[in-house]
Parts: sequence; C-alpha cells; structure tokens
Amino acid sequence: MTSRSAFVWCFLPGDTQPTLCGRFTHALVANGASQGTFVYGRRYLERTDALPIDAIALPLNDSVKTTSALGGFFGAIADATPDDWGRYVIDRAYGQQASPVDYLLKSQQDHVGHLAFSRSPEQLPEWLEPWDRSWLEDACRAISALERHRPLPPELERQLLPNTGLGGARPKITIADGHWQWLVKFPSRRDSPDVPMARLEAAALTLASRCGIDAVTHEVVSVGDADVLLVRRFDRAPREGGWSRDAFLSARTLLSNGESGQRYSFFGSYPRLARELGRLSARSAADRHELFRRMVFNAVIGNGDDHDRNHGMLADEERPDAFRLAPAYDLVPALHPPRIRQQALGVGDHGAWSTRENMLSSAASFDLDVTTANALIDQVEAAALDQWEQCCREHGLTRSAVASLAKCVQRIPDTHLAADGTPILPRRV
Ligand SMILES: Nc1ncnc2c1ncn2[C@@H]1O[C@H](COP(=O)(O)OP(=O)(O)OP(=O)(O)O)[C@@H](O)[C@H]1O
Ligand SMILES: [Mg+2]
Repeated sequence: MTSRSAFVWCFLPGDTQPTLCGRFTHALVANGASQGTFVYGRRYLERTDALPIDAIALPLNDSVKTTSALGGFFGAIADATPDDWGRYVIDRAYGQQASPVDYLLKSQQDHVGHLAFSRSPEQLPEWLEPWDRSWLEDACRAISALERHRPLPPELERQLLPNTGLGGARPKITIADGHWQWLVKFPSRRDSPDVPMARLEAAALTLASRCGIDAVTHEVVSVGDADVLLVRRFDRAPREGGWSRDAFLSARTLLSNGESGQRYSFFGSYPRLARELGRLSARSAADRHELFRRMVFNAVIGNGDDHDRNHGMLADEERPDAFRLAPAYDLVPALHPPRIRQQALGVGDHGAWSTRENMLSSAASFDLDVTTANALIDQVEAAALDQWEQCCREHGLTRSAVASLAKCVQRIPDTHLAADGTPILPRRV
C-alpha cells in the first residue's frame, strides 16, 4: 500500500492567514482502489471558532473519517485539486506526480475555496500574491507556448506554477487588482476559429443576469490580438493585510454526500442538488428557485456542459456555519447544439432531457408548484430570446458571429419529437 499525506489548513471567516485543521492521507489499496482518511487536529477541535470543512462528510469531532468515493478524496478536498489544465502545467514542470496528493501540494495557492495544504504541520502553506493586470500579456504568450508544447523561459514557467490549483480544462490564472481577484480564462488552441470564446462566455453570463440569474461579474479584455475573459473570484475578499478566503463546496461534493453517498454514480441531477441545497442553504427556498432558473437557462442556451463542478455553494457571509448557492459561472452555449438537447445533470423523471415536461416533473424538488414553474420557464425563455443578440453585440461579437449564434438560444420543447413528428419515448433512469 502506498500512501501520501498532506496537512490541511483552512482560512477561518475573515482571516488572511490559514489555521491548521487536520491531516489528509490518500492511499492506494488492493485492486487499484483508493482510500482517503481525514482526522481533525486536537488543537483545532479545541478552538471555539472551529468550523467543519464539510459538515456532512467531515463533521467536527475526533474520529478518523475514511472514504473510497471520488477516488479516495473527500469532496471538499477534491474541490481544491487541480484538473486537466493544472495537472498539465505541473506534469510539465515536475514530471508526472506519483500521488494525487502531490498535485494538491504543488498547486496550493489559487484553488477555489478556503483550504490550503502543506507537507508538515510546522510549515505554513506558502503562496505568492497574484500577479496584476500588467502580467496578462506575458501570461498569454506563456499559455499559448505551453499549449503548443513549446519551451518557455524558466522565469515565465515559474510564474505560471502558482496558478494551477483552479479546476477546469481551459487555461487559466488568477490576477488581482486593488479590490478584487479575477480568474482569467484564456483562449485555447482547441477553440473554434469562428467565435472568440471569451466574448461568447461573457455574452452568456450577461444574458444570465438579464434572465434574473445571479451570475459572476465579468469583463472581456483584449491582450495583443487575443481576447481573455476576466471573472471576478467570488471566494476571495480584500482585508487589511491580505485576502480572506470563503469555503466552497461543488455540486459534486454535495451530491456525493447525499442520498446515494459512497455509491455516487456520477450521474447527479438538478432535483437531487436542490434537495441538498434544502439541507445546507441559509436561504433554501430562494436558492432552490434560483437553481431551477439556472437549469432552465442552460437548456435555453444549449449549455450541455452544466456538470457537477460547474455549480457550487459558498459559505454564507452572515452565517459562517451555513452555505448559499455560489454565483453562476462557466455558462457557455454549444456552438453546434444538437437537435435533441440534454443537460449534463438529470432534470426530472425523464433523465437529462431538456424538455418542459421533464422540468415540470421535478418542480416540487425546487419548492415550486407546476404553475409557478411553468411561468418561470416562460419568463427565462422570453428574456433570453429577447436579449441574446443584444448581449452578443455588447460583447463585441461580429455581425456574422451573432448571426451564427442566433440558433443557440431556443425555446424548450414540450417534449422531444422524432423527425417525423412523433414523440420520442423518454429514457427512464
Ligand atoms: N468566479 C469564480 N471564483 C472562484 N472560483 C471560480 C470562479 N469561477 C469558477 N471557479 C472555479 O474554477 C473552476 C474552473 O472554472 P470554469 O468552470 O469557469 O473553467 P473551465 O476550464 O471552463 O471548466 P470546464 O472544464 O468545466 O469547461 C470551477 O470549477 C470552480 O471551482
Ligand atoms: Mg467548469
């Protein structure tokens, strides 16, 4: 059995320095399976202001917790591990890592939420202050070279390394200005040449706000001949002497803690997520209505990439032991939406199908009656259809791009129909 440990630190509400809270060990056990264990430190448990890092999977007590779900990672810790992009940069700099814990330790600075990691309890996690906007040009060049597997000046490569903790596949870094930290999403060589993705995502985020959704604050910046999207980080706030960090739990974490627990099948659903919000949220009814709105919006814009790491909850500012739905992020319409739309998460009785009938079937899980849910779908559809072109134009998309993007936003069909007009029987899940 090979195992690797990391000491886990958390930023308590308002703090700009982390507090040691426990130790996480990840081990490869028989048959290639993985197991994680976590134990809170005695000193942390004695603090009167200690908070659990996940009240459901990791309640605040001295027992040793184990998990074999999510590759042996507790969801809250998995949320802080780098994804495709971060792993790629780390592999390039240090070679492929033997344990997933090494990716945590090598990318501790900028991941989402309030956790930080170190190799020993005496060693405080170290991080560099985020770079400012003047670094964007260098960052663009560095990322483009990295993506093309080209060599980079060592100084530039070192500057990218603190920026590997955030999840997701797209190249990204965090920068700061006087007031906020911003997640910067860069173009990728895999993007379609016809539509600048930064402008498309910005248009969709603006559209979401016009449909009554609490979406992340964002702007597009041109750097040389590239467009990059700046998204304001919702988990960092400026304080005297540094930045505070707010706890974050992804929908994947909430769903893996939920009804199916360890047997989490990676097929989560919006209604199940709504029920988890009901348990955890400080404003449960409002958050469940908002989640319904987001589900409808994703169907209307043809965003089928609304998977369980593209939703999450943040610690509530007023009640540090409670959570609220985080602002909506990563909303991107499919450039070539399929005729029969589906979501990445289940929607209702008919699985992930994006139909009105399916959405209404799960209205009760969102604390909505069918009449109100119907009205909400109408409202989102009408606002989206009315505002889409305008949002695209506001974000500088060209006339031909706007014309080709018009098809992304569509009414939700009552039910899916085959080419000959007969209803397609739903696939039950
Ligand atoms: N505004 C924000 N503040 C803090 N963290 C964020 C913010 N937006 C996103 N994140 C975190 O960063 C991760 C990556 O962001 P995002 O989903 O936008 O990137 P992506 O590369 O497009 O992802 P994907 O692989 O899903 O397409 C998210 O899963 C979330 O944990
Ligand atoms: Mg994402």
